[in-house]
Amino acid sequence: MPHFLNLSDAGGDAVAAMLADAIDRKAARAGWPKGKVDADAPLAGHVLAMVFEKNSTRTRASFDIAIRQLGGSAMIMDAGVTQLGRGETIADTARVLSRYADAIMIRTDDHAKIEELAEYASVPVINGLTDLSHPCQIVADLLTVVESGKALPGLELAWLGDGNNVLASLIEAAGLFGFHVRAGVPQGYEPDASFVEAARAKGVRIDIMRDAREAVAGADLVVTDTWVSMGQDHAHNKVAAMAPYQVDERLMTGARDDAIFLHCLPAHRGEEVVDAVIDGPRSRVWDEAENRVHAQKSILLWALGKL
Ligand code: CP
Ligand code: NVA
Repeated sequence: MPHFLNLSDAGGDAVAAMLADAIDRKAARAGWPKGKVDADAPLAGHVLAMVFEKNSTRTRASFDIAIRQLGGSAMIMDAGVTQLGRGETIADTARVLSRYADAIMIRTDDHAKIEELAEYASVPVINGLTDLSHPCQIVADLLTVVESGKALPGLELAWLGDGNNVLASLIEAAGLFGFHVRAGVPQGYEPDASFVEAARAKGVRIDIMRDAREAVAGADLVVTDTWVSMGQDHAHNKVAAMAPYQVDERLMTGARDDAIFLHCLPAHRGEEVVDAVIDGPRSRVWDEAENRVHAQKSILLWALGKL
């Protein structure tokens, strides 16, 4: 069963195929109304169940639009108003949703829950973010990088701030596509060690550094995310530890002249990034957000054996 819990479930070749398909489909419908179905309607009649245990704007809206553009439809469930929110097991939820839907996307707090859901589901399960990883976001990010004219192999990516779920999936992508990551993160907030080791085992450089300027030096791509992820405390000591990693114009001067800036959003302006950068000429964040739609169409097609 082609689950998409992490990028490695698909592998580098399949993710490359997703990027190529996303570029083609995006070009083919340029200027069309957002809800118009792609000419080939490849997922006509298919239903995507979406379960949210955490808030979402982009993932929720972009998957909804993605499945519509493929000719299918979405069923959106906020866990708090389902029986899952009252203690029905993940396994039973997986068995039941598999009878109603052709694929399940879930956003949940604990990665172990999505692994359990995948174990008991008889349809593909897609990770819409867990505490551990955010693979769908990274397919959109890779698409945005490729669109900016940069090749993935050999790319120098600088990450600033918290070593969180988004960084874990970027590190996984680095291993699959052969690019390098310099993560400027405070002590105690390093990325998940298993993702770092797996990427290094594929021969890419994953450097964990304390100095923000050193991390961005010569970077092609500068990426950050919220200092406090969903489900975490907005603890004073964490925010204080992150302060030296704020992406501002001065920090961006250390990157290459043609470097671009990405942020998965939502942004906390004045914390991890300042307005002048996120609204500035190097920022590609709105393309990145749009690309969630195009990337997820290709993820859905892969999961349903149509890519
Ligand atoms: N980037 C992202 O996943 O955004 P949402 O939390 O709004 O879905
Ligand atoms: N790291 C953030 C990403 C939000 C899209 C979080 O988990 O809250």
